[in-house]
Order: sequence, then C-alpha cells, then structure tokens
Amino acid sequence: NDTKTELYSTADKSSFAFTSAIERWPVIITQVITDIFQTTNALPETNDTEKQRVKEGRAIVTELTALKYQLGHDYELLPIIDDGFPDVALYNAELAGLAAREKENNVPTTKKNPNGNPTWHKIAWLYSECYLYRRISSMLKRTEQWKEYDPFHATKNTTFRSSLTAVMELASKYKEITEKLRAGVEPDLEKEKLLFLEMAEICLWGNATDLSLLTSLTYEDIQKLQGSEARKKAENNILSNNLPSVFSKLQQIKESGKGSRRVDIVLDNSGFELFVDLVLAGYLLESGLATEIVFHPKDLPWFVSDVMPVDLHDLLAALADPVPYFSQLESAPKITDAQQSDLRFLATTWKGFLDDGRFKIRTDRFWTLPGSYWRLPACAPELFEELKTSELVIFKGDLNYRKLTGDAMWDPTTKFEEAIGPLGKEASGVRVLALRTCKADVVVGLPVGKDEELRQGDKARTWGWSGKWAVCQWWDGKA
Ligand code: F6P
Ligand code: MG
Repeated sequence: NDTKTELYSTADKSSFAFTSAIERWPVIITQVITDIFQTTNALPETNDTEKQRVKEGRAIVTELTALKYQLGHDYELLPIIDDGFPDVALYNAELAGLAAREKENNVPTTKKNPNGNPTWHKIAWLYSECYLYRRISSMLKRTEQWKEYDPFHATKNTTFRSSLTAVMELASKYKEITEKLRAGVEPDLEKEKLLFLEMAEICLWGNATDLSLLTSLTYEDIQKLQGSEARKKAENNILSNNLPSVFSKLQQIKESGKGSRRVDIVLDNSGFELFVDLVLAGYLLESGLATEIVFHPKDLPWFVSDVMPVDLHDLLAALADPVPYFSQLESAPKITDAQQSDLRFLATTWKGFLDDGRFKIRTDRFWTLPGSYWRLPACAPELFEELKTSELVIFKGDLNYRKLTGDAMWDPTTKFEEAIGPLGKEASGVRVLALRTCKADVVVGLPVGKDEELRQGDKARTWGWSGKWAVCQWWDGKA
C-alpha cells in the first residue's frame, strides 16, 4: 500500500528532515521535560495520589532524558513499550520491518544499534517523527496519574492567547457575514464564490503558525502572519490553487437539492488554526454549502500543537468568557464590550452547532499511526467508508499533506492525484482537498520550472520549509 518513490530521510542533510532531527526534536523533548518537571515540582504531595503522581512524574522525566540522549547521539529506535493500545504493536512491527531492511542492506550492528534497528539520524522522516510523539505518549499512558495528561496543553493555550488581535478581527467579520447570510440577501454567485475563496484562504493561512515550528518563530512573527493584510499579500504565494473548482462542486451539490451535505475536516493545529477551521466550518453551514461538519482531532498529544477534543472545548469556553482567559497574557490588548459580544456570538453559535449535531467530533487512532494515508483503505476500512459518505474531506496542514503524499521525494511537477495513491484513483469515493502551507520538502502539482525558480540555485528546497508558500489541491474521487 505504500509508494515506491524514495522517502525523505533524516540522513539527507539537504532536507528539513535533517534539521528537524538534529535541531528541532531535541528542543521539543526538552520542552516536555520542563513541563513535566515543573508540574511535578509544584505538587504538594499531601496525599497518596499526589505522591504517586510525583513518583511517576520523575520516572517520566528520566525516560524522556534517555530518549533525548538516544536521539542526540544517534542511537537506534527502541520498540515502544506496550501501553495497552493496539497501535503500539503496529509501530513496533514497522520498526522490525525497517530493521530487516537494514539487515538486507548489510548495515553493521554496533554499540549504538545492537538490535539492528535504524538509528535516529538515518531513518525515514515520517516514521521517526510520528514514533517520537507516540513514544512520548506511551510514557504517559503507562502511568496511573498522567494517562490523560497533555504536556503541550499549556503551550497551546499561551499561543492562542497571543493570537487575540487576529481572533477579534475575524470574529467581527464572521458575525457580520453570518448576519447577512441569515438575512437572506439576494443570491449573487460571483460574490458567493469570492466569499468562499476568502474563507478557505483564511483557513489555509491559519496553518502557517504551528507550534512545532515555534522553536524558530517569535510571537511578533506569529501576529504578523495572522492579520488580513498579511493574507492579501500572501494570495500570490498559493502555488497551486484548486479552490474555485471546489466551490463549483459544493455549489452544484447544494443546487442538486441533496438533503444531507456533509463536509469533514481532518484537523491540524489547536488555537488560532482551530479557530479559523471553525470559521470556515460555521460559514459552510450558514451559506448552505454544507449541512453537517465532522471534525477529526487526534486522541494523543501530537506534533506539539495538534488539536485534541479537549482543546476544542477549551477554545469555545475561552470565547464564551474571553476576558479572564485572554488577560492572563500580560501584553494582551484590552477587549472592548463590542468585541466581547462578537466573541460570545461565535461561542454561542458554534456551541449550538455542537449541541444540535451539525458539528460533530470523531477521533480515530488511524490519524496517529506512523504510515501515510496511502494505507487508509486497507488499514482503516471503516473510517474510509465513512469518509466516502462526505461531500468533501479537507486535510489541514503540513503533516496531513506529507501523509497524503507518503512524504516521498516526488518530482514537484507530479500530479497531486498520482502522489496521493489509492485516494487519487478515479472513483476512489473520497473527494480530497489539501489546504497546506509548506513546512517540509515534499510538494507536488507545481507548474514546470516553478521549483527551480523558487530555489534560486539553492540545492535544498528551503523555500518550502517556512510556511510562506502554500498549495490548495484537490482530487474529485467521486467523479
Ligand atoms: O516541517 C516541520 C514540521 O514539524 C513537520 O515535521 C510537520 O510536518 C509540520 O511541521 C507540522 O506542521 P503542521 O502542524 O502544519 O502539520
Ligand atoms: Mg500540526
């Protein structure tokens, strides 16, 4: 079920895989160590539960420190210790498969890879990065007191607080649009199309700021990326844009009179990106382009900032009562009464959609497996069947794009439908839309010569690492 095209590897010094393994992951593990250490230290140990929590917290810190050492010194990846969830066996089976391949290739065993497993600095990027987060989560899941703990939860909230300016700007715009739509203004297809494009682009660019890249972005950088001015400038940075066709399709389905029109969003990051996902989702319902939205968050702490169900509920609570939430950030701008009312309007509307079932939340372990989405039909047949009932499945963000395309070294002019394998087949049954700002090497569907132009002689595809460029690509698997 996997692509035969060569995969990006942490051994490739010219790819972002290498920078990630050498520079970014150690920083991310250190952040987790700091979080668990501080949380543990703050516990008063007044009862048995807290004593156990402290003891387990210290053990997690020790395990994390070992992991950081192994990563930093290029030791082999070890099987993940069973935490009671069947996906661990899948991770380990794949690791065993990789070890078998090392053997076939006569890679010698040394003190660093006594079991013949691949080592951190010479391994497929996609597998090893997913493994990193799954291994951290197994450390937590194996305890009594930290099972449900998300070591990234505090960071997600801090960053969302720093997005307040853009959140308020969008909230007032959303309210205005919603009121107009509800008032039932004269239909004007051209205007409706423009509005759809704008909403989808807001949703797209919300992905530019994810926390796993925050190791190199400041809060000022984030704010600059989020405002409407930034979006205008960025329009030309969408290298391949199929959004007009997506609008025509949704509009056609709406006009066909089909009663149930479901859209799925495979979520990426929490905070500001989730906020703009809700903006798009709410707009799709209000405009009648969809009648139901199904959100797919992760059920493990994932790639630092990815949405877990609790993050969505936190966000709605923050919007419902914004002052106590946002004022925890010292530099936060003051929220006027009018702005508070806009934010509450959003909270009430979206909470209402959750209550009446027009917004739904579905988790599935498939999303946190190490493999690409080429495996969706074979590895998660039920989920695949369910996605076929949707009119459109929107995949947000960089990692989802890497997984759609198998994180392989495609020629950048390869067709999107070829790179997404089984999902790109005619009549695959799933209508796929990727909204992705580029934060990794893999990219497809570019016009001939575009990659060369952007590289400007650069041996590496560094233009693709920063979130400055984007692609909105689709494949109509229902055609
Ligand atoms: O490229 C850096 C990186 O951390 C990748 O490892 C990962 O694909 C991506 O960023 C996460 O970004 P996103 O949140 O958009 O999926
Ligand atoms: Mg993410």
